[in-house]
Amino acid sequence: MIRRYVIGNPIETDSVVKVISPESGIVPYFQTLDKEKALTLPMSKWDKVFGLGETVRGINKRGFKYISNCKDDNSHTEDKNSLYAAQNFFVYYGKEQCFGMYVDTPGKVCFDIGDTDINVFSIVFEDFDSNIYVIDGDSILDIVKQFRGIIGKSYIPPKWAFGFGQSRWGYKSAQDVRDVVNNYEALDMPLDAVYLDIDYMERYKDFTVNSETFPDFKGFVKEMKDKGIHLVPIIDAGVKIEEGYDVYEEGVKEGYFVKKENGENLVAAVWPGRVHFPDFLNEKTRKWFGDKYKVLLDMGIDGFWNDMNEPAIFYTEDNLRDVFEEIKKYEGKNLDITSFFRFQGIVEGLQNNPEDFKRFYHEYKGKRYRHDKVHNLYGFNMTRAAGESFERNSPDKKILMFSRASYIGMHRYAGVWTGDNQTWWSHLLMNIQQMPALNMCGFLYCGADVGGFWGDTTEDLLMRWTEFAIFTPLFRNHSLRDTRNQEYYRFTDKEGFRNLLRLRYALIPYLYLEFVKAAENDEMLFKPLCFEYPDDEMCYETEDQLFMGDNIMLAPIYKQNATGRYVYLPEDMKMVRFRSFEDYDEEVMQKGIHFVRAELNELLVFIRKGKSLPLAKPANRTGDIDETDLTYIKY
Ligand code: NOJ
Repeated sequence: MIRRYVIGNPIETDSVVKVISPESGIVPYFQTLDKEKALTLPMSKWDKVFGLGETVRGINKRGFKYISNCKDDNSHTEDKNSLYAAQNFFVYYGKEQCFGMYVDTPGKVCFDIGDTDINVFSIVFEDFDSNIYVIDGDSILDIVKQFRGIIGKSYIPPKWAFGFGQSRWGYKSAQDVRDVVNNYEALDMPLDAVYLDIDYMERYKDFTVNSETFPDFKGFVKEMKDKGIHLVPIIDAGVKIEEGYDVYEEGVKEGYFVKKENGENLVAAVWPGRVHFPDFLNEKTRKWFGDKYKVLLDMGIDGFWNDMNEPAIFYTEDNLRDVFEEIKKYEGKNLDITSFFRFQGIVEGLQNNPEDFKRFYHEYKGKRYRHDKVHNLYGFNMTRAAGESFERNSPDKKILMFSRASYIGMHRYAGVWTGDNQTWWSHLLMNIQQMPALNMCGFLYCGADVGGFWGDTTEDLLMRWTEFAIFTPLFRNHSLRDTRNQEYYRFTDKEGFRNLLRLRYALIPYLYLEFVKAAENDEMLFKPLCFEYPDDEMCYETEDQLFMGDNIMLAPIYKQNATGRYVYLPEDMKMVRFRSFEDYDEEVMQKGIHFVRAELNELLVFIRKGKSLPLAKPANRTGDIDETDLTYIKY
């Protein structure tokens, strides 16, 4: 059962598609504190909270404060309250009470889950205006399914998007991309896509291609297509200010960009230097910008990733002017313990400054809103612009799309990747723990930068990470320029990596089937153990294993130098220790705790009783997988 409660005058977000009439009375379970703009709930010792999508920390979110405020933060340390996403759905699971809640508000909201007071859960609003959906159900999975039922079906990408994609911010030319593809081919390693980061553009201008480094782009796209490789270009939120650039000129002429209070277009800066931001919340702008993707679609492109759409702001012209004024005051001074850090802070404070998000406005559903009031809808609506145009212009074609910023509702148009992680073992664990929370919020097509984005990866980290990532729908190796190159063909154990990539392709029939089932039935692809076994206390303690689809459980190794790990089996299972698609051993194991060995090139899959794991013969492209010729490992 789902009930809707209205606090104040909420701004409609379009995240919920089912019409639910509001209830009178106050939000159940919580106490409403109007003056504090908060809802509070005392938590019993045992109680747990799950969900909130892409955030730091574990699967049970208790013990920290999560702030929904889409943020371009490139250091996902565990003290971070906000990452790129705002996904305000959670399940409260206690011995006395169990319910789901969706806090549908586009502004800032803080979920303080026992941080300020270890025994109190409070939801603190910047503006006390929100639609609150309260969901009662028989189990966590039932509550999630009901919630998913009101937000609309999750996006299903084309099948090739389940293949492996190689990416790097640093491929500068068609020849660089060719080299990557040739190297994969030379080693007989599977690959379906190569991602194009900002360097394919002409001076970082959306919907342009650098004709010097990518001459005859259309021909190049075809050359790659003929080899079975899809090129996936990035699109950024900011539009470069440059005379003669059609997107800029049209946007100015038609008034498609966000404006300041005085009616001038906001001038901010991102990669190209000065940019304007399209007002994606405005339907007309969405249509205009969405149709621009056609420029690349017409050249044969069939996939995109939308970036910097929180939006990320290096600085605004207004703030930059103030900062220059301010730092002049420090010139010639003896900068001491306080003044030096103040000085440093002034310059650092330019980027993603909260005050800048109050400088501009949106035309949304016939009204004008200051950006910070609707901030969390920006990335969603950029991606929606593309999604709506694909539906309009290419209804019969499946196009790959995923975004960095997100809000619930965007899951109908696209997936997400989890942004700029680090080459850290803890970020492999974070990837594992984020997947179920993203699924709860409708985001099924997701994945992390495998191997880590920032910093130099190591072969063992990349190997272990890949052993998990071959199960994630989006499977992409991506890294930052000037870091160690991390394409799989560069490492010592080429055979080990080839085996993993081939195993991924062997798994695609299972992965795709389970994905589509989850999307169509509003279910989760990755489930924490306790969602399936709510009466088994050990399952709540086990936050580093997941059920994946209906048939298997994963227990990834995420610690350096480990040659095995403890695994908890909530039921009897058959363990499969894979070295490759054809080389594996099987062992039936009883419910309980086991220490299981797995060398660096070995990965563990646990098959549930009465279930099987189908494997296709490996292929180097998704299109070459023979789905009629499957081998089943059965238990
Ligand atoms: C930020 C994105 O998160 C990252 O993946 C990308 O490589 C850079 N922008 C450059 O486009």
